[in-house]
This record gives sequence, structure tokens and C-alpha cells, in this order.
Amino acid sequence: MRIAMIGTGYVGLVTGACFSEFGVDVVCVDKDKSKIERLDRGELPIYEPGLDELVANNVGAGRLIFTTDLNTAVADADAVFIAVGTPSRRGDGHADLSYVYAAAEEIANTLVGYTVVVTKSTVPVGTGREVEKIIRRKSPHAEFHVCSNPEFLREGAAINDFMRPDRVVIGTDSDRARQVMRELYRPLHLFETPIVFTSLETSELIKYAANTFLATKITFINEVADLCEQIGADVHDVAKGIGLDGRIGAKFLHPGPGYGGSCFPKDTLALVRTAQEAGSPLRIVETVVDINDQRKRSMADKIIKACNGDVSDKTIAILGVTFKPNTDDMRDAPSLEIVPALQAAGATVRAYDPEGMGDARQLLAEVTWCDKAYETLEGADAVALLTEWNEFRSLDLERVKSLMKSPVMIDLRNIYNPVEMVESGFDYTCIGRPKGTSGAAV
Ligand code: UGA
Repeated sequence: MRIAMIGTGYVGLVTGACFSEFGVDVVCVDKDKSKIERLDRGELPIYEPGLDELVANNVGAGRLIFTTDLNTAVADADAVFIAVGTPSRRGDGHADLSYVYAAAEEIANTLVGYTVVVTKSTVPVGTGREVEKIIRRKSPHAEFHVCSNPEFLREGAAINDFMRPDRVVIGTDSDRARQVMRELYRPLHLFETPIVFTSLETSELIKYAANTFLATKITFINEVADLCEQIGADVHDVAKGIGLDGRIGAKFLHPGPGYGGSCFPKDTLALVRTAQEAGSPLRIVETVVDINDQRKRSMADKIIKACNGDVSDKTIAILGVTFKPNTDDMRDAPSLEIVPALQAAGATVRAYDPEGMGDARQLLAEVTWCDKAYETLEGADAVALLTEWNEFRSLDLERVKSLMKSPVMIDLRNIYNPVEMVESGFDYTCIGRPKGTSGAAV
């Protein structure tokens, strides 16, 4: 089997590398010449655990190559994956499909023999049909079928999510395309991975419905956490108590500063717009989007409150700025709301993140960036933990106290135990757990 992967962003690169690990010959195509040159030198444009090794091994084995030459890559392929970006269109929340359609136009000119054209990018319902029309219009005699194969990769755990997925979703009307896709995913039959075959439209909706449901679950537990703070309950015990019910499930019930990243914020908004236009609004999702936006802003107030309501002339240390650990991705990270709000309230901000500071430097002004977690704490009036990187989970608390002006910690990821923190002499604030609870269910 031979595939072409159009787009070497996060999804294209991970998917291409993983298919090559399955033994498929993969050609990753990108218009960006300098990106391809860097990839050829073994330099990856993103941070994803294990990806550098996977890429190096498969490049070494001759199964994975990078090129700017779309024509040759597509002509030789049994399947062409479109994995280009679909950013939010400015202003209205719709996904911008111009890169997807441009890729379809280019593919149309170069198809040779039967080819499955697969949309891997997250695309609104109807996009697959449009891709089909574009190719048919440009190349009326081409032998091809369009198929939707959404990705369910979490940043930071993407390789495992690809190799051991809960399911694979394949949407197409064609038996022939189904056969090609089944063959591509054959290694997963070993693990008896369920493959959901469905129509193009249904497959496209499954992707949005999955992300939206997960975003809703997180938002639900975030609101329950706020309630816990008011009534003296412990949100971790609530999450455990409801999560053990198999109908609910324990995952994605961890409270925090609001979901971020390149997917949930964009996809929830896009589905809201699609549903409104279809005359079937998703009011739950509309509310989720609102609550999550407000939540990120309200986290700055939480930090200010923990500093006795006033951060003017205070120094706040921020640990973690990426939207979650094990990624350098800053897109829609809560830090992008929290840090400017603290600065607007008069605080001086020092910050550290193991991987995110490259981009963060461009996005957050007037921050003193530090090389290490402990260095960030020097002279700080309070420390706010924004991302649950492993290296922040077991800080030497005595050392932390000795470095700070006052031992105030705001833990927006609930990684410390409230009892131990109070016993260690911290003025400790977390999410949805009253001071003095054990956090035993964590
Ligand atoms: C998400 C989905 O989990 C993937 O299945 C999907 O393929 C991907 O979007 C995508 O559409 O490409 P990702 O954005 O990488 O993956 O990150 P998640 O691990 O899902 O986390 C998203 C956000 O939710 C983060 O800000 C995280 O901190 C937050 N979160 C997650 C919580 O606040 N609580 C939780 O319990 C879980």
C-alpha cells in the first residue's frame, strides 16, 4: 500500500508516521519548502512524545519520505489523505475550508488509476461531497471515491491514540473505498479495534459530536466544581462517585481552568454554527462555549482573590502556559486570558513552561521568562499552576517556600493534596475542593 499525506501539520505528520510504522509507504507533502527541508534533516516542527523516533526509524527504513512534489506523490498513491488546517474563520466560528478545497483542486489534476481521497482534517458535514464535486468537475474521468476518516488523536498521546484507538470511523458510500481503508488499518484488526463504517456525512458529524460531547463533559464538571466550592463538597469525590457509573465513565471529569487547544474551542464553535444554519440549534453546546470562555477569564479573578484581592505591585509566578502538558501548543490556552488579566490588574508575571515558551514569548508580552520552575518562584508573592506538567507534580515544597516571598499557591489543575499543602504551611487554593479535604479520590 502507498499513501500520500497532504499537509505535514500535527495530524498529517502523526498519521503519516504511524501508517509508515504499519508498513505502508507514505509520502508526506507540504507546500512549505523550508518545513520539508527541516523534516528531511530530522527536525520536527512540533513537540510530540515519541514522534521524532518514529519518524527517524521509518525514514531510515525508506517507508516515509517528505516532499513538496504533490503530483508524483498523488499519482503513485492508493489513497490520498487531506490533512491540511481548518482554522476558525475570523468572526463567525465557521471552519475555513479554503486549504481543503485547494488541496482537492490540486489532487484532481494528478490522480492516476483508482484512488481513495480521504478527508482526515476535521471538516463540517458536506465537505466530503464538495471535495467529490471539485475533483469530478476538474477531472471528469478520474477513478476515485471520497472517504471521511476523522482523527481522534490527543496531543501528547497521539501515537498511542493512533496505534491503539478506541475505534476507527470510516465514512464512504463505496465498497471499493471501504476495502482500501480496511486494508490500510489491517494491523489494528489484531487488537480487535472496532471499525465503524458509515456514510460520509455521518462520519463527519461523529468527529464534531465526539469533541463537543467531551467539551461538554469537562464544562459540566467545571461547573460542579464551582458549586462544590460554595457548599463545601469535594469535586474529585463527586467525579469518582459519578464516573464509576459505566453510563457516565470516569474520563474527562477532571476540573480545570477551561478547555483549550486547537480542537475543542474551534470544533464546538463550528458545530454551533452548523446547527444554527441547519435550523436545529444545539443549545447545550452554545452554553458550553459561553461558560468555557467566561471560565478562562474568571480564573484570573480566582488568583487575585487568593492574593487578598489585590495583585498590584505583586509578582505572580506562572508554572505552565500550554493548554495541556506534553505539547508546545499554545492555541486557546487559558494562560492567554489569565496572564494579561493579571498584568492588567497590576501584577508582574514570571513564567516557565517546559515546551511552550517559544510560541508563548510571541503571544504574551512583558513576561519574565525563566529557565526552570524553581527560578520562576524567586521572590514571587504567589504561584499559579496552569498546566499539569509532570515536573510540577512533585515540587520540593520546602524549597518552593524558601524561594517565594509568601507561600501562596493557586493550583488550577488540582495536582496537590489540600491537606498536605496546608500542613506544609501553604495558603493553598485549588478547584472545587474545600481547604482541608484529603483529595483521597484523586
Ligand atoms: C482533543 C480530543 O481529545 C481528541 O480525541 C481529538 O482527536 C482532538 O481533540 C482533535 O480534534 O484533534 P486535544 O485537543 O489534543 O484532543 O486535547 P485533550 O486531551 O482532549 O484536552 C483538551 C482540553 O481539555 C485541554 O485544555 C485539557 O486541559 C482539558 N481537559 C481535558 C480538562 O480540563 N479536563 C479533562 O478531564 C480533560
